[in-house]
Parts: sequence; C-alpha cells; structure tokens
Amino acid sequence: MDIHSSLKLPCGAVLNNRLAKAAMTERFSHSDLKPNQKHYTLYENWSKDGSGLLITGNVLLEPSHLESAGNVVINESGLPELKKWASAATANGNHCWTQISHSGRQTTIFNNLRPVSPSNVKLKKLGFFAKPRALREEEIWELIGQFAEAANISKTAGFTGVQIHAAHGYLISQFLSPNTNKRTDQWGGSLENRTRFLFEIIQATRTQVGLDFPIGVKLNSSDFQKGGFSEDDSLWVINKLDELGVDLLEISGGTYENAEFLLASNVRQSTKNREAYFMDFAEKVRKQSEIPLMVTGGIRTLDFCNSALKEGLLDVVGMARPYLLYDHFAAEFLSGQLTPESFSIRTGIKAFEDMAEAGFYNLQLDRLGQGQKVDLNFSPARSAFHLVKHEFVKALANKFGG
Ligand SMILES: Cc1cc2nc3c(=O)[nH]c(=O)nc-3n(C[C@H](O)[C@H](O)[C@H](O)COP(=O)(O)O)c2cc1C
Repeated sequence: MDIHSSLKLPCGAVLNNRLAKAAMTERFSHSDLKPNQKHYTLYENWSKDGSGLLITGNVLLEPSHLESAGNVVINESGLPELKKWASAATANGNHCWTQISHSGRQTTIFNNLRPVSPSNVKLKKLGFFAKPRALREEEIWELIGQFAEAANISKTAGFTGVQIHAAHGYLISQFLSPNTNKRTDQWGGSLENRTRFLFEIIQATRTQVGLDFPIGVKLNSSDFQKGGFSEDDSLWVINKLDELGVDLLEISGGTYENAEFLLASNVRQSTKNREAYFMDFAEKVRKQSEIPLMVTGGIRTLDFCNSALKEGLLDVVGMARPYLLYDHFAAEFLSGQLTPESFSIRTGIKAFEDMAEAGFYNLQLDRLGQGQKVDLNFSPARSAFHLVKHEFVKALANKFGG
C-alpha cells in the first residue's frame, strides 16, 4: 500500500489514490457569491495534476454568515455555475467534495454586525468580530435542514461528495466547545447535547443524499484552548461518527483564537519532527475506531506519506499549502520528483502571524485562479494587510454590487 493505492469508502465510492487537497478558502466570488472562471481554472488544473480527492474551500449556507468576503454561497440559483465548477474539478476522474460550512461568530463586522452562535460569546481577536446572539431553537432546526439541502445541491451540481466543516471554530465547532456553547437546553451542557447539532446534520444529510454518496467530516482533535473541546471529547465524537457511517474523517485542530491548523504553535517539537501536527492524536483514533482517516497539517514528504499509509496510521494524506507553492504540486509530488519546502511567512508580531500566513497563501490562490504562476516574493507586511483590505473592499462590493 502506498499513496497511489485506491481507497474504497464505506458508501462504496472509490478514491483513485490517497492524496487529498485539503480545503482552502478561495475568496474568488463577486457580489453574486457564485463560482466563476477563477474557480474553474484553479480546479481544472488541480484535477489534471492527479490528486485522488479535492476538497473545495468552505462554501457557505447564507450570505449573512460568510467565513470571508468572496466565499461561494450554495443555493439553487447558483446551480449552473456550481455545475461548471464540479465538472472542471472532476475532469480527471478524481473526486471533488464541497466543504459545507456556516461561520457562526467567525464572520467579520464587514459582513455581519450581529452574527449567530450557540451563545452570545464574543470572539477574542483584534477588533473585527461582533458579539453574536444566541440561536433560537427553530433556527437551529432550520440550519440543520440548510446543511442537508446544501449537500443535496452539491450532489445535483456534480460534486462527488461533501465534507461537513466541524473544525476550526466555525458554527458546528462553536456548538462542540463548552467555551462558546453556554446553552442550557438540549443543544448545550453535556457533551451529548453539544454534539447533537453535528449528529443531526449528518443524519439529515444522509437522508437527503442517499447511502452511496460520500459524507466526510473535518473535526478538531482539540481546540487547544483551556476549557474548550478536548481530545477526550473528540475521541468520543469520532466513535459516534463511525456509528453514523461517516465516510472520511479529517483531523485538524484550533480556532481563530488559536490557529493551530496553520501555525502549530502548541504542537510538540517531537511531533513536528515527525511531520504531521496531529499524528499523535491520529494514533489514538486508530486504536479505538476503524473510520477512514485523513490527517492534514504539516505533512510534506512522500516517504512519510508512504510509511504512514503502509503502517496503517492513516488512510488519506491531506495537504494544503504545498498546492500553493508550486504550479503543479500534486503531479510532481506523486511522481516522486518534488519534496515541498516548509515555507512560512512571519511578521514577528504574534497577533498578525495567522493573518500574514493566510494572506500570503490567498495571494497565491488568486494567481493560480488567474492561470498565473505562483510568486513567493510577497512581503510579510503585504501578506498580513492583504486580507484586511480584501474583507473591507469585497464587503463593500457585496453591498453595492461588483
Ligand atoms: C489559504 C488557506 C485557506 C484555508 N481555508 C480553509 C478552509 O476553507 N477550510 C478548512 O477546513 N481549512 C482551511 N485551511 C486549513 C487547511 O485545510 C489545512 O488544515 C492547513 O493549512 C494545514 O495543512 P498544511 O500544513 O498541509 O497546509 C486553509 C489553509 C490555508 C493556508
């Protein structure tokens, strides 16, 4: 078994190989919040490069809760464009799944001055996030239906699966964490109650898309925050996900308040030396569950991928940033010609590090979407400022058209 081996998922679908491009928010849409030529170009090229699975950047349920200005919002009116995107992204016979998400409180003030969340706990991060209001019971049920509907629209459009985004501090992750979920009804308190939202979404989605359509979940191994969603919580959730017939579990970690998935600042050096940030946790998952496992974060060498696959430590290798450091990363990596460098962009100011990192890689996405080559010469300052400018300018465009 190695990275070129195929993988049959519980629903019966088959991935041609074990390399997956993890989700990276594209931020390409105009004020119509639909996919456009940049999505088609980027994904057609990625498809041709040979990954077994491409997961889109998060696509959102509603315009009032964007993870970023420029997100795609998934609804029936966007079907013609979604079809074009799905068709380009599966040109090579690979899988492409939409990552379905709701930002909850992790949307900027440029998008929403009163976002929703399980409870009214404000995000502790610079000044760009408003205090949310707690969702009402009937709104929670509506959102569950909206997740399932978005999955169904993805299927109709021609995407070959969906990934439900339950990690990184977005709405589902807000329900899972005791720090952000202070509810006293059936959606908060005990772990069983905090996980109800996620499990209801999975069940509603399965009802809509049928038994043979892949449903994946991206979940935090932990939030890396005192009092937050813990490793023990996560291991308990994973057993339930297995029982619910989830086809692929992707492990990650952190939230906007502590972007572990990008910076890995709390990950032990010994773990980083083994490449994958979340590998220690993956081993714990493996001991207790047979759920197909994708691990993302810090993985860089083909040797590591092949030996981890051979030892059965994981089933799918997730990689994100390397796809943005090379014009044809997957093709060169799969053929053994390339070992990507670990490239980090740092400003030296702690509060800006995740913005610089995300900004730098977003600049590369934009270039690839326009059919240009990557350009590693963007400065830390430009990278850090890029996203603030992007959010502000695009949010204005969304309001006034453009
Ligand atoms: C520019 C950028 C955008 C990202 N957007 C998303 C996203 O939309 N959804 C998500 O789950 N993770 C997102 N991530 C996190 C990646 O999927 C991945 O977990 C992280 O980059 C670690 O993997 P890597 O070390 O291979 O880059 C993003 C990362 C980057 C660099």
